Amino acid sequence: MPKHEPAQARERWMRVDIITAVPHSITSVLEASIVKRAQEAGAVEIVVHNLHDDGLGKYHQIDDVPFGGGAGMILRCEPIFACIERLQAERDYDEIIFLTPDGERFCQPIANALSLKRNIILLAGHYKGIDQRIRDRLITREISIGDYVLTGGELPALVVLDAVVRLLPGAMSDAESALLDSFQSGLLDAPHYTRPAEFRGMSVPEVLLSGNHKHISAWREETALEKTRKRRPDLLG
Ligand code: ADE
Repeated sequence: MPKHEPAQARERWMRVDIITAVPHSITSVLEASIVKRAQEAGAVEIVVHNLHDDGLGKYHQIDDVPFGGGAGMILRCEPIFACIERLQAERDYDEIIFLTPDGERFCQPIANALSLKRNIILLAGHYKGIDQRIRDRLITREISIGDYVLTGGELPALVVLDAVVRLLPGAMSDAESALLDSFQSGLLDAPHYTRPAEFRGMSVPEVLLSGNHKHISAWREETALEKTRKRRPDLLG
């Protein structure tokens, strides 16, 4: 195990089950990225479940027309109850999260809170909606990643997963970097520079080359505050 990984990473930290009608859209993304490294380091175990495996009848039906009429298909209760109840028989879940545009808006404090959980389920809807009884009986939390409508909950599930997993011990090579992100301090991030100090007539702010860490800290704080004031004054409220 590489030297930089904290001791906790040796024991699995978190398990995430993702339920979807299109598992490939999740697994293909999981192949890349920091999330894969986090799995290899033992920080997280991610298991993707194909809703069609619990589908009904010969055609593994998972959806149906809405009662009362209207456009679009609705995910049925039976496959989702079967999948979630099977998982619940194996372990306790801290949260069963449904990704939906009418959920609470995802943000860094929610990611922080979820990163402290042991077992969570992410349910991605892929049709017009899901039967309300699933939400009433099984779902403990509903999350939206923003005020726009996507074709399914898979991308939102990946967004939530990525934001949470990178906070887990062992997921990042430099544990500090997750804590110093934009939003963790309540401010946007200060600008960053690397070599060369001069590029096409653009130079790096003198203070960053000064070696004076007190001045550098003060500059970073000041520029972060200025950027936040300009772009996201709501964060300063
Ligand atoms: N499913 C479709 N759009 C979504 C959104 N904005 N957030 C979460 N789930 C969604």
